[in-house]
Amino acid sequence: MRDLDQFATDVLTGLKQPVKRLPSKYFYDETGDKIFQEIMGLEEYYLPRCELEILQEQTSDLAAFLPAGPLDIVELGAGDGTKTVHFLENLGALGRSLTYYPLDISPEVLQTNRSHLKNVAPDIPVHPVAGDYFKTLPTLQTTHHWVLLFLGSNIGNYPNEKAVELLQFLSQHMSTDDVLLVGVDLRKHPKTILDAYNDAKGVTRRFNLNLLTRINRELGANFQVEHFDHFPVYDPVTGIAASYLVCRQAQKVSLLGETFLFKTNELIHTEVSQKYSLSEIEQMAQSGGFRDVHHFTDHRDYFSVSVLLK
Ligand code: AVJ
Repeated sequence: MRDLDQFATDVLTGLKQPVKRLPSKYFYDETGDKIFQEIMGLEEYYLPRCELEILQEQTSDLAAFLPAGPLDIVELGAGDGTKTVHFLENLGALGRSLTYYPLDISPEVLQTNRSHLKNVAPDIPVHPVAGDYFKTLPTLQTTHHWVLLFLGSNIGNYPNEKAVELLQFLSQHMSTDDVLLVGVDLRKHPKTILDAYNDAKGVTRRFNLNLLTRINRELGANFQVEHFDHFPVYDPVTGIAASYLVCRQAQKVSLLGETFLFKTNELIHTEVSQKYSLSEIEQMAQSGGFRDVHHFTDHRDYFSVSVLLK
């Protein structure tokens, strides 16, 4: 199926649910990528700074859990690689011989990734692989032990059962001694988490609303975007942060020959960002087929880079 057809199918399916929903992976068009870069620089959005602190300051402790010999660093959802380059640079400085395989759905962002790495660490060979990682990972032609990277709390976008399935998929494609590094946002004061998705400048609001603008543009819909509010919630019991769009004024939306009625105050669910405790990560890793886990956290214990051993 062409990408646009898949997008259309997913949007139509989502809007026919009893509580309307849109998949968060469609946030990332060109505008969405730019807004996400802005989010990563926000005071309230602590995640990237915590992860970078861990990757930069604890490289040698982390490296103790990596397989011996030359390594193939395979990154799922690599994006532009901003945080990863520092980690690779540090590993290189520890004398580790590396080859980098950034995997991402977007070929454009992989171009940026490659030139970024070439500037910072010109000696590390880069082999970008564009496409859905469920499809590309099983066909990778590599020669050394894998260090799989799944950073940025991207695992949080999967509802828990799906996250376990993803870990099972990864462990099935790993050999003994390969390792998986997962960046996970931890449970903490609920206000801190809620603020991360409800920043004062309204950048996350723009990010959420851009999904409707994208659907208008690419699928010819007529959402009145200005009549929707950004509404994030966090439930400290389940650890689920979720984002909604709330329709403030009833409207009829035409989309690909179908009509959808939005009542006043009707919701569209757009994103899940699951937060975990360290013991929840351990349970998840065990269900996912891993035998052992070591956590590396930042100085406030906001975030963990967890090493999962097969
Ligand atoms: C890229 C999925 C980790 O869930 O925190 C940021 C995306 N959404 N602000 C997250 C996001 C709203 C982000 N992830």
